[in-house]
Amino acid sequence: MCGIVGYTGPHQAAPILLEGLKKLEYRGYDSAGVAVNESGGIHMEKSAGMIRNLCKKTADGAVFHGCAGIGHTRWATHGAPTDENAHPHVSNDGRFAVIHNGIIENYLPLREELQARGFVFKSETDTEVIVNLLELYYDGDFKQAVLKTISRLEGSYAIGAICADQPDRVFAARQFSPLILGLGIGENFLASDVTALVAYTKNVIYLDDGELAELSPEHVTVYDCTGHPIQKKISRVTWDVEAAAKGGFEHFMLKEIIEQPRALKATIDPRIKNGRVVLDDFHLTDEDLKGLQKIYITACGSAFYAGQVGKYVLEQLTRVPVETDIASELRYRNPIIDEHTLMIVISQSGETADTIAALKEAKQRGARTLAICNVVGSTIARLADTVLYTWAGPEIAVATTKGYTTQVAILDLLAVYLARRLGRIDEAEEARLVGEIQKIPQQIQRAIDLNPGLEDIARAYHDNSDMFFIGRNLDYAVCLESSLKLKEISYIHSEACAAGELKHGPIALIEPGRLVIAIACQERLFEKTCSNIKEVKARGAEVLGVAMEGNAAILAEADKAIYVPRCDPLFSPVSAIVPMQLFAYYVAKENGCDIDKPKNLAKSVTVE
Ligand code: G6P
Repeated sequence: MCGIVGYTGPHQAAPILLEGLKKLEYRGYDSAGVAVNESGGIHMEKSAGMIRNLCKKTADGAVFHGCAGIGHTRWATHGAPTDENAHPHVSNDGRFAVIHNGIIENYLPLREELQARGFVFKSETDTEVIVNLLELYYDGDFKQAVLKTISRLEGSYAIGAICADQPDRVFAARQFSPLILGLGIGENFLASDVTALVAYTKNVIYLDDGELAELSPEHVTVYDCTGHPIQKKISRVTWDVEAAAKGGFEHFMLKEIIEQPRALKATIDPRIKNGRVVLDDFHLTDEDLKGLQKIYITACGSAFYAGQVGKYVLEQLTRVPVETDIASELRYRNPIIDEHTLMIVISQSGETADTIAALKEAKQRGARTLAICNVVGSTIARLADTVLYTWAGPEIAVATTKGYTTQVAILDLLAVYLARRLGRIDEAEEARLVGEIQKIPQQIQRAIDLNPGLEDIARAYHDNSDMFFIGRNLDYAVCLESSLKLKEISYIHSEACAAGELKHGPIALIEPGRLVIAIACQERLFEKTCSNIKEVKARGAEVLGVAMEGNAAILAEADKAIYVPRCDPLFSPVSAIVPMQLFAYYVAKENGCDIDKPKNLAKSVTVE
């Protein structure tokens, strides 16, 4: 979603801002703009569409000479993606420029109030009230104007602001929307995401809700909401620039699929010692665990589907009931959560608005909370009692791949860990399960190597207008993520269906030539799934079977087969999804889609 960058230092700001915005493109956006302080005024340019339009208009930033400024990529919420609605927005007197992520919920009454005072609005955005409030409250003190302005705002915001009277200052404020300060030497930065900063500095400060910051080339001062300076911890970012680059691959998504063996190794290996799962960061005492009555998993999108896999594995090993709920649903349904509940929230970015709200709801009801997160220092990571990081490295493609598989691996490790602590498995069984989990990275590599024909298979089916994924048990959980992956990047309609449910509706849509992908890796249910394959074949469907390596029987049923390396069926989803990711990738490529930045989607959904 929207991206924020800011700079103040000795260099021309605009080229740095544009470079930063390019690093944030992956988050999804539909317009962009920059504003720079120069010659006692504000010089601004913005443009609907891609950043390259903005680069063209500004000769890659060369037309701006000022050394402090702000830049923004907008993902439209209030008003269409036009030049007028793009950020920055400038106050009526031209003294202030503001960029904003989030939603100002009381913007309509504020707008009416400002209009009654004679302010004129040029856009349909909620953001324009912020910049005109700055003008209203300004009496020569920029900081006081920011403080008064944010005290009037309801909703969520990350704000960057500049003022023509203080040409080297950038102000920032945060409430429920991420904002990070980058500390350089003689220059300082602002961004909504560390990927925009790592090329310049690894030293960062994560702003917390209710805080604001004042940046000049030499200093960064953070204030609380009353304007008192506060001490903040400086954190070190461990990602480097190369980790966020394409590295010779045509798309980030392909790079991220291929690097999964490495990502899974980084996630799994440090948590295994002498045949046991060791979770140093896990803070629940034996007493807490004794009282544990229910595990709850909540998340959005693919993270939720990772949670669906987790439900099967956790229930199987711990025998504790596991409930899963989409975060946007959980928060509004008065869920039964109390101090005997372990709430697991899963989020690659750690910034998904609904997941944050669900986590807060769970905390309020007394649950113990555990986050599975990829971004160090993100809001979710900081709110939860315990964080288990996925160590997947930066994920740039909007459609998650290594983010999802590392989340599933953490859930597998957690299931084994909890099962042992709850006394459900003995040491020998733990060692066996751990041995299986340790094989996952090499199994993923084998899942890639076993299926060199995937691109041809994708070519054969790319023009199907609807596709169906069927499977049972853990295979069904994999179907959910496979179907989402396909529709996200190829725009082909697809549905995931528990194979046994086929007869209760979806089979009405099966007609000659329709592609059905049957995932049949849970071999104890193989015959059952085969009966479902027969049902769709009888109605003319083309079937692509996904089975364990060496299972020749699948070819007696399906038209074509994809193989997954043989493993403990409890852990098969991590490798079974990989050929499905590649299938979606190649179908999207064949259809000429914008794979890394699918239309209408955002990497990090920071609004409800
Ligand atoms: C968006 C992304 C998905 C992701 C979901 C949840 O929809 O496009 O890939 O699964 O958000 O994001 P999170 O960062 O919370 O895992």
